[in-house]
Amino acid sequence: MSNRVLNIVGKPVKKVDGVELVTGRAKFAGDIRIPGTLHGYQRRAGIPAGRITHIDTAPAMEVRGVLFVLLAEDIPGPNIMGILPPFDQPLLAYDEVRYEGESVALVVARTKKAARAGAEAINVEIEPLEPILSPEDALKEGARKIHQGGNLTFERKLKKGDTVKGFEEADVIVENTYETSFQEHAYIEPETVLAVPGGDGRITVYASCQSPFHLRGHIAANLHVPAAKVKVVQAYTGGSFGGKDDVAAEIGILASVAAVKGGAPVMIAHDREESIIGSNLRHASKIHYRTGAKKDGTITAREVRITLDGGAYASESPFVTMKTIIHAAGPYHVPNATVECRAVYTNKTYAGAFRGFGVPQVTFASESQIDELAAKLGIDPLELRRKNALRAGLPNATGQVFEQSVGLVETIDRIREHKNRHTGAKRKQDDTGRWLYGAGVCCMMQGISNGAEGIDVVGASVQMGQDGSVLVGVGLTDMGQGSRTVFAQVAAEVLGVTMDRISVKQVDTDSVHDSGPTIASRATTVGGMAVFKAAGEVKRSLSKMASLMLKCGEEEVDIAENFVLHKKDKNVRIPLSEVATAAYWTGFPLMNLSFSRAPDADYDHDTHQGRIYIAYNFGTHFMSVRVDRYTGRVEVLDHVAAHDVGRVVNPLGVEGQVEGGSLIGYGLAHLEKVETRDGCIINPNFSDYAVPTVKDRLPTRTICVEDENPTGPYGAKGVGEPPVAGAAAAFANAVSDAAGVRFVRLPITREDIVKALG
Ligand code: MOS
Repeated sequence: MSNRVLNIVGKPVKKVDGVELVTGRAKFAGDIRIPGTLHGYQRRAGIPAGRITHIDTAPAMEVRGVLFVLLAEDIPGPNIMGILPPFDQPLLAYDEVRYEGESVALVVARTKKAARAGAEAINVEIEPLEPILSPEDALKEGARKIHQGGNLTFERKLKKGDTVKGFEEADVIVENTYETSFQEHAYIEPETVLAVPGGDGRITVYASCQSPFHLRGHIAANLHVPAAKVKVVQAYTGGSFGGKDDVAAEIGILASVAAVKGGAPVMIAHDREESIIGSNLRHASKIHYRTGAKKDGTITAREVRITLDGGAYASESPFVTMKTIIHAAGPYHVPNATVECRAVYTNKTYAGAFRGFGVPQVTFASESQIDELAAKLGIDPLELRRKNALRAGLPNATGQVFEQSVGLVETIDRIREHKNRHTGAKRKQDDTGRWLYGAGVCCMMQGISNGAEGIDVVGASVQMGQDGSVLVGVGLTDMGQGSRTVFAQVAAEVLGVTMDRISVKQVDTDSVHDSGPTIASRATTVGGMAVFKAAGEVKRSLSKMASLMLKCGEEEVDIAENFVLHKKDKNVRIPLSEVATAAYWTGFPLMNLSFSRAPDADYDHDTHQGRIYIAYNFGTHFMSVRVDRYTGRVEVLDHVAAHDVGRVVNPLGVEGQVEGGSLIGYGLAHLEKVETRDGCIINPNFSDYAVPTVKDRLPTRTICVEDENPTGPYGAKGVGEPPVAGAAAAFANAVSDAAGVRFVRLPITREDIVKALG
């Protein structure tokens, strides 16, 4: 595909839903108005651990406007909301509470205000238990078991080569322990659903969600009805970043059960406080690294031990554990590696999926250690990384070898060029001695597709009308990242149609094929490939029709800008609409449903050696900062992010992903800290929990390296998650360089900086 001239893929394209979004016409779940809608509000435990002894709902029923209350026994199905085994999370708790945000009841009322007042009025008697608040305490011998099976949620190992021998061969060894804090998704739109019972025995659920078919499955199971009775419509979704999978299921089920019981639409719209306390977070972590290298910088061995604080329920902890160990050795050729990771239950808000999925934590720790190694060896940090960088043909930590699309060295070289051009240029006038200047780099990788998390299949439909316009349907959602636009571009490119003729369905489970969850930076790669195939089938019909009309071979037919052309005689052109109409009357199919299935992962589950991801996104970030030595304030002066994206589909989309992801990484590295007291979050709002705002916008510049990926459409690879890790680690290295102190804990707050500088 490399020599092909592309007309639409690679060009900056406005989002297909951009106008609706910026004009406010896009309907989010909370914008949908149906007369007679009732409102649900959850009553939460309020304490981190205890046994429920009694629930008295009578006081809630006395609140004017309250209609009924749901308890665990009112859920027709299994009362479980977990996505993966061990399926340990009840929708409504009935015996034990394991974190403060745990729901015990749903109050349904005519107004949200009444529902909330009703929820507060319920008398829930809980016999408190001593909360277990750290993984260390949870794993102590004789510790109270948070779940029947004990407090270890999940544990996995990666083993490659002989680490003992690798460390013997090392001339220097560096060793350190790093920590990261919980992080809240902080999407602009808190979780919202609206469940509408239909007259036909079906139910429609409008949801701010990430994975509508998962949601449908959970709702059907807990309503105890066949899945086909449930229709989930993904409303416009104001961000998710991994966070809405669990919570959309939780409130989607509750609203559906309530809607059936009440015979009326029920909306549940979380407040910000509920969104923070009640929904999953990024895992806090404690990570020990040991790295050995030869004098010339060649890494001989790495040993990593990771503990993830998973909070009260498993959620995605098992998958995060796997992704973490697979990425811990970094984007380097490490011949000998041992990685152990365990996720542990504590009585805190549960942790789950969050953009990056374990990779930001280990990348920060790993890349800090590479800087420490560079200092000890006296080698330039970027050169040390380049020396050890993965290249095509070299095995990564799981022993997987990619023969192409390993563009890490090129991202390093692009960053080096940038650094050489700009060193010192950004340094501002400083005669006061107040500002400390520094710079940092980071290399990272992020596996694309479900990989170790299971089979990866997407179904996409492409349908052409007689007028030559095109409707694309994919079961993957756009939560703001721009995937609808990517799908439109791929279809437009294949079919030779201009972008204004393409529409992409809003996802609803009645009209698109189940495409699995929208996770793991897989939409562009696996979803785009499905669109590519489906569009190709429609194009085949058009070519066949055109060859009859032009009396030429199918291979002589070309389609461009809504016209069918004869390749050898450009004067011969027919409007595409005429060919599509003729194809329709001839009975050549103008609609196709195609599937892309990523090659299955194939690896040893004890050592994690084998083929796992279908591709990796590789990246190098450079950040320069100045630090105010008196206040700890950090100004990011320069940030350049180079990523190997295989092939750029929409440059504006890539930039948006890199800028947005970097800002989340910056928040993780500098600003965001979930503060708890006795197991309860004390800053569940945006005045005390600081997220980056528009004022914190980084001066990010995006560089795209295109080392084509054979498993993606036109060679493309996803870029949704990777920048988070890149920016977080580069920030930590830049601030450590400026301060002359190695920071080993994220976030590195102003207070931390002032303290470290004495
Ligand atoms: Mo994403 S963190 O893989 O939902």
